Amino acid sequence: MCWRFCREVVSRYSTDVRELGFTIEELISESLGLEKDHMRKVLGEQGQHMAVNYYPPCPEPELTYGLPAHTDPNALTILLQDATVCGLQILIDGQWFAVNPHPDAFVINIGDQFEALSNGIYKSVWHRAVTNTEKPRLSVASFLCPADCAVISPAKPLWEAEEDEAKPIYRDYTYAEYYKKFWSRNLDQEHCLENFLND
Ligand code: OGA
Ligand code: NI
Repeated sequence: MCWRFCREVVSRYSTDVRELGFTIEELISESLGLEKDHMRKVLGEQGQHMAVNYYPPCPEPELTYGLPAHTDPNALTILLQDATVCGLQILIDGQWFAVNPHPDAFVINIGDQFEALSNGIYKSVWHRAVTNTEKPRLSVASFLCPADCAVISPAKPLWEAEEDEAKPIYRDYTYAEYYKKFWSRNLDQEHCLENFLND
């Protein structure tokens, strides 16, 4: 009985979070002056992964991270934080800031693919999770991912200019190519998008 209930809740959560993600993708498109469905069309049939992160208390939190610094390789991440324990941090101008949980709020991370598709207007934020000595922490991350065959190409109106030489910051690539590259490096190395700059 309990398992059945759990399955229903997780299934409903996944469906609802997906719809929320699609709405955000439409809002991002509109905010860039593009057609509402622009990003969704480019991303194709989106995959969805869920990670349930459990960070046990750590006797010496200054010696390690729960999750080292990284950007998310996908399009958009919707993060549900444990309302009672802090741990998430983001990097702004070389300094780490805590993103403490807020009741009834998700953290929305722009992933690498929205940075590329927006030609760098949206930034995929560096983030990490730290631990503490007292309390375990749980977070639930839902990742919306482009279809493997989706061609990630910065939207033309965002880089097109009068001069003929105008070109986007990033070259075209498929998500499959990006994903392979992302996991072939250390998580906290340089921003993976740097490997996809236009020369
Ligand atoms: C992740 C992530 C942060 C957290 O799963 O990609 O960044 O607070 N999680 O658990
Ligand atoms: Ni992440």
